[in-house]
Amino acid sequence: MITEALSGVSFDIAKGEFVAIMGPSGSGKSTLMQIVGLLDRPTTGEYFFEGKNIQNLNDDELALIRNQNIGFVFQSFNLLPRTTVFENVELPILYDERSDSRKNIEKRVNEVLEAVALAHRVKNFSNQLSGGEQQRVAIARALVNDPALILADEPTGNLDSKAGLQIMRILQKLNNEGHTIVMVTHETYTSEHAKRIIQMLDGKIVADGPVKKRRIADGEEKFLK
Ligand SMILES: Nc1ncnc2c1ncn2[C@@H]1O[C@H](COP(=O)(O)OP(=O)(O)OP(=O)(O)O)[C@@H](O)[C@H]1O
Ligand SMILES: [Mg+2]
Repeated sequence: MITEALSGVSFDIAKGEFVAIMGPSGSGKSTLMQIVGLLDRPTTGEYFFEGKNIQNLNDDELALIRNQNIGFVFQSFNLLPRTTVFENVELPILYDERSDSRKNIEKRVNEVLEAVALAHRVKNFSNQLSGGEQQRVAIARALVNDPALILADEPTGNLDSKAGLQIMRILQKLNNEGHTIVMVTHETYTSEHAKRIIQMLDGKIVADGPVKKRRIADGEEKFLK
C-alpha cells in the first residue's frame, strides 16, 4: 500500500518570511520540510526553489544548493558526540566547494557561535553541553554557510520552556537579520513567534494566515534576564 504523505499542497514562501507549520502527528509536516529542504522530491507536482524547478536537477546539484542555501535544525540536535563544538560547527564549511582558508574558517565559526552566545564553549565536546546549548550549537552549524533559508523541525521539542524560549529568540533575531525561516512545532506558544502559521491535517494545508499577536507567557520577560 502506498501512503500519500502529502496531497494537493500548494503554497509559496517569500524571502524573509518566518513560517510555523503545525498539525497533528502524521499530518505530513516533516515530509513537507524534507521537500522544502531538497532532501526529498515530490512524486508528482512541482517545487521551485529560488525560481529553479528542482525536478530538473540531479542529486549532486541538489546537494550543492542545500549546502550553500539551506541550514537544518532538528528536534534531536543531531550533533556528532565526542566531537568538539568547533568541529561540529565547521562541518558544513568543509563540505562547501568554496572552502575557505583555515583562518577564515576559525573566524566564521567564532562569529556564528557568538550569534548564539556560545563562543566560550568552542572547545567543549558537544555531549558535555545541556540540551539548550546543544540546540544553539546546531543553529550555529546551520548558520555557518550563511544560508538564506533555515529549516527547523520541532527545534524546541526536546527542551524545557526556558531553553525553548531562548531558541525562539535566536530564530527571531536571525529572521530580523534577513534569514527566511520555516519551523515545525506542536506548541501554539512557540508557533506565535513566527509571522505566519500553516496548519496541516492528513497531508493537506487546512489553514494559512498571519500571526496577529503573540501571547506573552507569565513572567516571560523576567525569565531571560
Ligand atoms: N519514509 C517513509 N515511508 C513511508 N511512509 C512515511 C515515511 N515517512 C513518513 N511517512 C508517512 O507519511 C505521513 C506523514 O508523516 P510525517 O513524518 O511527515 O508527519 P509529521 O506531521 O511530521 O508527524 P510528527 O508530528 O509525528 O513528526 C505519515 O502517515 C507517515 O507514516
Ligand atoms: Mg515530524
